[in-house]
Amino acid sequence: MKINKKEIIVTCAFPYSNGSIHIGHLLEHIQADIWVRFNKLFGNKVYFICSDDTHGTAIMLKSIKKKKTPENIIFKTYKKHILDFKKFNIIYDKYYFTHNKENKILINLFFDRLKHNGYIIKKNCKQLYDIKKKIFLPDRFIKGKCPKCYSYNQYGDNCEICGAFYKSTELINPKSVITKLKPIIKKTKHYFLNLILFKKKINNWLNLTIIKNNILNRVSEWFKKGNKFWDISRNNPYFGFKIPKEKKKYFYVWFDALIGYIGTFKILCNYNKKINFDKFWNISSKTKLYHFIGKDIIYFHNFFWPSILEGSNLRKPTKLFIHGHITINKNKISKSKKKKYINFNFEKKNSDFLRYYYASKLSNSIKDIEFNIKNFIKKINNDIINKLINLISRNSSFINNYYYNKLSNILKYSKIYQIFINESKNISKLYINIKFNKIINTIMKLVDLANFYINIRKPWYLFKNKLYNNKLHMICTMGINLFKILITYLKPIMPNLTLKSEFFLNIKLTWSGIKKPLLGCKIKKFEKFLERI
Ligand code: 2FM
Ligand code: ZN
Repeated sequence: MKINKKEIIVTCAFPYSNGSIHIGHLLEHIQADIWVRFNKLFGNKVYFICSDDTHGTAIMLKSIKKKKTPENIIFKTYKKHILDFKKFNIIYDKYYFTHNKENKILINLFFDRLKHNGYIIKKNCKQLYDIKKKIFLPDRFIKGKCPKCYSYNQYGDNCEICGAFYKSTELINPKSVITKLKPIIKKTKHYFLNLILFKKKINNWLNLTIIKNNILNRVSEWFKKGNKFWDISRNNPYFGFKIPKEKKKYFYVWFDALIGYIGTFKILCNYNKKINFDKFWNISSKTKLYHFIGKDIIYFHNFFWPSILEGSNLRKPTKLFIHGHITINKNKISKSKKKKYINFNFEKKNSDFLRYYYASKLSNSIKDIEFNIKNFIKKINNDIINKLINLISRNSSFINNYYYNKLSNILKYSKIYQIFINESKNISKLYINIKFNKIINTIMKLVDLANFYINIRKPWYLFKNKLYNNKLHMICTMGINLFKILITYLKPIMPNLTLKSEFFLNIKLTWSGIKKPLLGCKIKKFEKFLERI
């Protein structure tokens, strides 16, 4: 069957330059990487891109504290981030950072175009100001009591308890997160994107892209009750791109980060001249654009981002894949603890294990995902070592020792083989719809079936009775072929195991090759693929 190749851009949310990669980031980047690997395996043309998010108040404060330039911190962090992703086999077609010339040109271009199209206005406003630090406070640097439900410890933009939206100046008893002092209200002037002008178009787009009603409701709520104007500028001191013709104003980090999706793609095009940049971004583009994000940044992607694109007469995203947060023992955890968890050294043990564990938990839901070390170890040892590796090790030992590493020429009991290959349609659908947990369930059922097939045919019994005949040869050849299909299904999830298996089987596993059994060919000597944890 000839497949219609799709051309796709896939992104993850840009990690901030002022922090380390932790298991929360890995959840999203592994989820996206699995999806990308599947699409590439399936024959689609995918460009997987991401960048470090380099601007904002946090990085500015960090650079002052560390007595280093922001550029210095950005570059060092960038190199670390790339290595961290690589350890988990998260392979981008381009990973960059937003503080670059290309991006700066692009942001100015968007600003001019949006202004020219009448979507940006400059107006007076009031903001909270930290007199000790001498800075205007970003929403995330203010905490106080929600003006609606009176919950304590809420940020300056919206309440995590009741979901209310408000201006930071409406918070009750606000405190600066930096100095813990009560900020003053100070007048200033800013550039705003007039969101109301996009309401109808964005609502139409939302109806097409978001299936989940609860998300749709939340965004409609935002339209009704949130700020009608989005503040896209920030005052000095700030670290970011300066706004042209302004002495003391910068673009807000979220404005340049979102446009950074296009900027990063542009950088990729500079490296790979064969990609047609315009084809991907023009308003009637037939290519696809998917963003993987966490539920905490839905508004930026469901609301601000499509508005920027709409106002600039460009294409909008095809779909947003939204995931929940990581919890440990049912608690939301701090960034530093999430980072410590990486020190469990998943990558040394084998980064496939974390990928497999995450896949077994990931679906298309935005529910939080519980990480439990005991459960993790049990799952890996049980599913991967006891079942999957056991299947290949016991079958290959006979082929290696008594048949000169050669598989039989025919497969007699082809019913089970048919059951295995029939699952390929279902599994590809599950991949496309990011229902990875169901893929793992399906694969585990197949592994059980394969082991059952071997158990009832008892190759060790035939061996013990010196029956080194065709029957034994065929049973073990079937076992190895079933393993081959299972590894092809797992290829996007477990790249390390795939590489070892491909080497052992002397073959490159492809989606189109699922139906074709390995017969009459030589395999390598089996060596332990993976160690129990
Ligand atoms: O929430 C975050 O971690 C942001 N740095 C994500 C930015 S996504 C995109 F806009 F770049
Ligand atoms: Zn509230």
